[in-house]
Amino acid sequence: MLIAGNWKMNLDMPAARQLAGSIRNNLEDPGQVQVVLCPPFAYLDAVYGLVHGSPVSVGAQNMHAEESGAFTGEISASMLRSVGCSHVILGHSERRQYFGETDASVRDKVAQALRHGLVPVVCVGESLKERDAGRAEKVVSDQIRGALEGIEYPGKGRLVVAYEPVWAIGTGRTASPGEAQAIHAHIRSELATLFNAGDAAHINILYGGSMKPENADALLSEPDIDGGLIGGASLQAESFLAIVRAAMRA
Ligand code: 13P
Repeated sequence: MLIAGNWKMNLDMPAARQLAGSIRNNLEDPGQVQVVLCPPFAYLDAVYGLVHGSPVSVGAQNMHAEESGAFTGEISASMLRSVGCSHVILGHSERRQYFGETDASVRDKVAQALRHGLVPVVCVGESLKERDAGRAEKVVSDQIRGALEGIEYPGKGRLVVAYEPVWAIGTGRTASPGEAQAIHAHIRSELATLFNAGDAAHINILYGGSMKPENADALLSEPDIDGGLIGGASLQAESFLAIVRAAMRA
């Protein structure tokens, strides 16, 4: 199980420090549950400093696929490693929608992240229009293949996938546990054809999209839902920690 908080473009430095500190101080031993905080780039170093030595790890929300050079405004994999990141979210639907991220660019970033020992959290998910047209599975399959085709299985725990239906992000509307489970099982079968069934069984597939304490138990008890990528509810220590506890119960 893995619970990751995607803070998106929120909080100022004092608020970021307070949130990270409060999560660190109030987290009971999470056992088998991995806990990852993904603050904006500007706070990575500070957040890492606060959680270092605790069970909490730190991830970024994006990165560039190149090693270094003239890419104004961008961040490389080795920079993220040098400030303590273990994970990086790649291909979030907001990046695809607003910043022209494509399956091909996500694939380049996945390869680069893996070269640097970062665990990519590869995001996939259909829009409402695609779901209503009965195309959710096809869209998600294309995104999984587009992002991972030709990538060698990096080993247990080295790759994470997040299913985030676009219509459930920030809308308060959550996929029902059954709807989410069906797509998660489909994603796992797609991963089994790309790698093999044994390896696919060990890839954490997270659900994201209005996950909160009230629906976390039901979602996380589905067999193919291995954690959550939390937006809004990760901005309060109390609600984020309640979801971590739900993962510990699952
Ligand atoms: P919300 O939890 O705010 O719906 O956001 C989900 C998400 O996009 C996490 O990456």
